[in-house]
Amino acid sequence: MNHPASTTNPPLKVDSHLWQACRRGLFQFNPEQAHHLAFAGLKLWQKCGAHQPILPQWTRHPSLTTKKWGLHFPNPVGLAAGLDKDGEAILAFQALGFGFVEVGTVTPRPQPGNPKPRLFRLPESQAVINRMGFNNQGADALVRRIARVRETGKLSIPLGINIGKNAKTPIEDAMNDYLMGFKTVRDFADFLVVNVSSPNTKNLRTLQQATRLKIILEALQEENQKGTPVPLLVKMSPDLQTADCVRSLETAVDAGFQGAIISNTTISRDGIPNAERYGDGGMSGAPLFDASTKKLKEIVQHFRDSPIDFIGVGGVMNGEQAVEKRAAGAELVQAYTGFIYGGPTFAAQLCEALVTETKRLTS
Ligand SMILES: Cc1cc2nc3c(=O)[nH]c(=O)nc-3n(C[C@H](O)[C@H](O)[C@H](O)COP(=O)(O)O)c2cc1C
Repeated sequence: MNHPASTTNPPLKVDSHLWQACRRGLFQFNPEQAHHLAFAGLKLWQKCGAHQPILPQWTRHPSLTTKKWGLHFPNPVGLAAGLDKDGEAILAFQALGFGFVEVGTVTPRPQPGNPKPRLFRLPESQAVINRMGFNNQGADALVRRIARVRETGKLSIPLGINIGKNAKTPIEDAMNDYLMGFKTVRDFADFLVVNVSSPNTKNLRTLQQATRLKIILEALQEENQKGTPVPLLVKMSPDLQTADCVRSLETAVDAGFQGAIISNTTISRDGIPNAERYGDGGMSGAPLFDASTKKLKEIVQHFRDSPIDFIGVGGVMNGEQAVEKRAAGAELVQAYTGFIYGGPTFAAQLCEALVTETKRLTS
């Protein structure tokens, strides 16, 4: 099923008109400018003290509490990696009701990312195409910022850090970057995500191949065991054949990884008219939902007796689709593009649908 963005679960009334007006305004700008504007607003809100979740009747509903990897998630709806790469608005996202936030992808050294334009909105398809290429301020800057956030005592949700390699590092030396990134960020993360699935860093996805992945994941786990171990997760591409993905994740289980994120963006352009005009990059949003959910379901079934849990991400645009991701076997759900189109109450909308579903199942 491909669900259009119009939904059986209409936006919470509180701000839908206000948000539609804001969105119209923001969408007048090119996508990257709009991102910076919206982000400036979030940072300002955070500076003014925002951290308490909005709409707690949904976002802090007791039925949504999830315990995983020794962590307490007030709700299972998380912000996916890539939106807050540098950890600049973590408390603002907590205030928007997200039950966890994944920052990054961060690389050991700062880098500018790919040349612009590199981000495209496709409103008629409720999708985004991006080839950002891990533009970020580097791991040192990220941990300084996270340390300041933790010092405030206001962070009440789990914080994941997603690590990757610098574009200039040859792929054969990728391991050095992952290890360096890991060592820098480990003490600041509640869980850590190894990103080998972005389509926008040359050859990165070849690291998903089981024999190559095994070497990287084992080295990271060895380093992890030298201190208080942090839960380790790996993020996979929806474009990998299921059998290959299973083989790779078996190496993750063997290496003691506790979770996998299915999925990153896709290089497919199915359902996108005149896709060639956007060039290369990963597609996210509504057209990704079916493929990423199918992959999730197949993989979860394979690992149902293994000690690994899944975060489902890809194309969640409304509450009904968050419910579907969970039905497919995801313990936790994440979104990025749905938030861009759905606005400030997006996390609360998903929580509302999950509460309603839980009530339905238990009544
Ligand atoms: C503009 C943009 C940048 C992204 N950057 C990253 C990233 O740095 N690291 C990562 O693991 N995923 C990144 N993603 C992928 C998302 O985390 C998510 O896996 C994907 O977009 C599918 O979810 P969605 O359909 O809810 O957006 C990015 C996605 C977008 C749209």
